[in-house]
Amino acid sequence: MKVVTSGFIETGNIMIIPIFEGLSKAPNNATTGLERSASIAVKSAIASEAWSGEIGENLGIWTKNCQVILLGLGKQKDLTTKISRDNGAKCFASLSKKHGTKIVIRFTTGWKVDQMSAFTEGFILRDYTFEKYQKKDEEDKGPWSLICQTIDSYQKELEIEVTKSSAIATGVHLARDLGNEPANRLYPEEFGRRALEWAQGKKNTEVEVWDYERLQKEGMYALIEVGKGSIHKPCMVFFRLNPDNEIHSEVPCIVGKGITFDSGGISIKGSAGMDEMKLDMHGSATVFGLFQALYATGYKGRINGITCMAENMPSAEAYRPGDVIDTYSGKTIEVLNTDAEGRNVLADGLWKAGELNPSYIIDLATLTGSIVVALGHEATGLFSNNQSLSQKIKKVGDEVDEISWPMPMLPAFEKQMTSSKIADVRNQGKGRWGGASQAAGFLKQFIQNRENSEEEKIQIPWAHLDIAGTAGIWGGESNAMVSHGATGVQVRLLHRLITQD
Ligand code: BES
Ligand code: MN
Ligand code: ZN
Repeated sequence: MKVVTSGFIETGNIMIIPIFEGLSKAPNNATTGLERSASIAVKSAIASEAWSGEIGENLGIWTKNCQVILLGLGKQKDLTTKISRDNGAKCFASLSKKHGTKIVIRFTTGWKVDQMSAFTEGFILRDYTFEKYQKKDEEDKGPWSLICQTIDSYQKELEIEVTKSSAIATGVHLARDLGNEPANRLYPEEFGRRALEWAQGKKNTEVEVWDYERLQKEGMYALIEVGKGSIHKPCMVFFRLNPDNEIHSEVPCIVGKGITFDSGGISIKGSAGMDEMKLDMHGSATVFGLFQALYATGYKGRINGITCMAENMPSAEAYRPGDVIDTYSGKTIEVLNTDAEGRNVLADGLWKAGELNPSYIIDLATLTGSIVVALGHEATGLFSNNQSLSQKIKKVGDEVDEISWPMPMLPAFEKQMTSSKIADVRNQGKGRWGGASQAAGFLKQFIQNRENSEEEKIQIPWAHLDIAGTAGIWGGESNAMVSHGATGVQVRLLHRLITQD
């Protein structure tokens, strides 16, 4: 979707006029450019007793040249950016290309720039479909174009904001594309190939793929063991942006769980909903999408990304419950359940992240069913060893409406996960309670210590985002930005976190 700003000139094929509650007559500029009769119809609709401007109210008026949509947005003072963004997305979802693809949004009296940009962002984010495997009956009408109309003094600022949203959305949509790909088409090597292709010809980007052989050489047996049961062998993908900048300073490292399909392995899952496990690489999809978003917005800082790619399958070569596996860190893991595979692959990714002199490490993973029990699809679970990092993530998540809810890192869970009788760490807790916290307690064992200025050894600041409940929508209504499938969640949160520092 191409987005520009202008004054109140054109009317487009579809003209949307979002209106605040409590107006007794049409705001200035509402009907500029419409024919006289159409203008009268729209003005009388707004002035009519029947129209209140309450949130959710909407009215379509067909005029000779365009479809006018009046949209109630409630009281101006109550309009948060979240409500604005959600209503933009919902409004977009209701449009049809039947009568043209040129949309005009008319922001009349009272609209502030942050409200306008959030409303427009909803349009941009919702403008996504995954139809590549479907035959189309009707002819392609081409992409939407969008003109945001506002008074002269706001135009420039709004243009900057919507251009930024559009650039970030390329990353969100890329993450959704990856998440939505079926597992027979997107397996570890293919993810690596796409990453290499992405970096090709892009300035200041670098991608490196460690294939199966390299993983063996490096001793990344946690990743290897999870992936070796599949004909599609595991790999680790390194993303680097601006690799030549600030080479002596600490920069963030973002790590993603990338299970392209999670059958559970030998501890096989039940068949209900197993298809959704193609999404078990969304952590990695988010990392990839984030790099695209940072690139597209021209971010100048250096940053590292690591994705741990494997397919978790049962086979004669698969790892088993009871196995003790070596990890890159040197610690051993007793595998009690092959379906707790995400934490295994992250063990190697997180340890590797610790070698890259990170300012902080953030991992993203569709890690546990337990976090979905705790938070539903409304929020990502946020675990951290560092309060200030955790608070920053929470704050930024609220701002962009990708809520990340702080969960405690209780020592009891760490104790459970380190109580194996025969290895250093066990990959399953001692019971089913607190499963998401158990997983976090496991991951923490693979965050490296380093010396601070007082010569104390302390852990690198780290946060773990359990996105099992927020990465996909299968018929729910918890994310207005998405109709179905992968959400691209946390690309916007991380983009903001990283670029505002
Ligand atoms: N990928 C799953 C978690 C998951 C569940 C993601 C639902 C998205 C939606 C993960 O690998 C898993 O199987 N976790 C197990 C861990 C258990 C065996 C300790 C779980 O949560 O049940
Ligand atoms: Mn699993
Ligand atoms: Zn999994």
